[in-house]
Amino acid sequence: MNKVNAALRKRLKIADYYNSLVCDPMGKLDELVAGSLSKSEAKITKIQDLKDHIGKDVYVRGWVHRHRASTNLAFVVIRDGTGVVQCAVNSNDVTRGTWKEANDVFLESVVYVYGIVAKDERAPDGYEIRTKELKVYFKGEAFPIGKDQSTEFLLDVRHLWVRSQYIVNILKFKASLMRVAREFLDERGFLEMQPPMLTSSAAEGGATVFNVEYFGKKAYLAQTAQLYSEAMIEGYPLVYAFAPSFRAEPSRTPRHLTEFWQLEPEMAFYDFEMYIGLAGELVEHLCHEMARKHKDILGKYKRDPEDLLAIKAPFKKMTYEAALKELKLKWGDGIGLDEEKRLMGERTQPIFLTNQPKEMRAFYMKINPDDPRTVLDADLLAPEGIGEIIGGSERVSDYDELVRRLKEQKLKEKDYKWYLELRKYGSVPHSGFGMGSERLVRWMLKLETIRDAIPFPRTMNRLEP
Ligand code: 4AD
Ligand code: MG
Repeated sequence: MNKVNAALRKRLKIADYYNSLVCDPMGKLDELVAGSLSKSEAKITKIQDLKDHIGKDVYVRGWVHRHRASTNLAFVVIRDGTGVVQCAVNSNDVTRGTWKEANDVFLESVVYVYGIVAKDERAPDGYEIRTKELKVYFKGEAFPIGKDQSTEFLLDVRHLWVRSQYIVNILKFKASLMRVAREFLDERGFLEMQPPMLTSSAAEGGATVFNVEYFGKKAYLAQTAQLYSEAMIEGYPLVYAFAPSFRAEPSRTPRHLTEFWQLEPEMAFYDFEMYIGLAGELVEHLCHEMARKHKDILGKYKRDPEDLLAIKAPFKKMTYEAALKELKLKWGDGIGLDEEKRLMGERTQPIFLTNQPKEMRAFYMKINPDDPRTVLDADLLAPEGIGEIIGGSERVSDYDELVRRLKEQKLKEKDYKWYLELRKYGSVPHSGFGMGSERLVRWMLKLETIRDAIPFPRTMNRLEP
């Protein structure tokens, strides 16, 4: 009997947790409940669900998001992660205890509120809670973040700033974006794989690797999952990784992080054109789905969903040679951010910049048979000054060609021993690409800087918090 009860209690506890009922260590809800609803009915309502409770009594809890008080009226705006609601406290309607607590709270204090949900045109979301009781669960200290703080200060206190609706909504958007991207690939028969983050060789150029001491040996933080995905496709032809990439790039630009998350699909029996087709379809799909699903969030960041719905693959391709002509540059000149911006100009659709000189591109890119000075690579450039959001190519699948490419780039064969070996057994034509998730989020949400597309950005001069 006791056993059954314990099991039942445990089950109920778990259910409570998931329904966001009561985890109330200090008994604040109990205090509220005393004298109001019967305990069995006491449930915390999520702020996002308040619209279904207009005219009803509710319990909500959360962090004080804004606060203002006058002689007999206080407004405690609270936030619970699902939304923000204003709780109006009228000194005539509440006990002295509640009135005092409603006046004494700090921003970010944690409170429990009991009251009735009422329509109110003046309230931020069109309704508010007319407070009957309020209990402070955790008062804390005066919160250091106020209005109009500098960007640098907000980065210094990022561990506190991540609570802002500004950051949380970006995070919600990014989580949804990556879910949609995974679904897109899963539906097409891709298998997700986990690449190592500790590696023995550089894949994207030795100049930007972070060195790690590995039991007395030299190791690097992964710059890409690619070489490992290439190994995997011979076991399962379509794979992808969504993982961190590390680059010791000393760049201070609004589009560079030293740690970012790439979605990297790799496909056996895919040639260059097939890669371009898939990458274009993916980007179009992401733009359309996000526009359909998240009008609310897009609006908060001043992105018109119509802009994203207008994105239409297949995207135009432009060779490096053609780009040089447009930009009045000469062979061998690099196409960096400034050139990308000039090239994109007023264009509203992304374009693929293709076939760059082999000396300027990674050793694993296949030589272009139609112009052997160049490789079969394509970067997808986004409009609005964002620049490259995808980098990809057809890969070298021939052993001898790969040895030649390594030599040309003065890389040591011995450092790529296992990677070369892939070309000895069952090597097939294959292609792949990497899409930077933060750059994509920055573009879609029109963020001023890529740093806001990740909760704890890592840049050249920022390792804390
Ligand atoms: O062009 P990248 O360096 O390509 C690769 O790493 C390939 N191995 C990918 C592959 O084929 N599997 O990087 C790919 C993408 C870029 O287009 C960009 O979106 C993003 O990753 N990216 C960065 N994002 C933020 N900060 C940086 N420093 C980035 N470097 C690249
Ligand atoms: Mg690139």
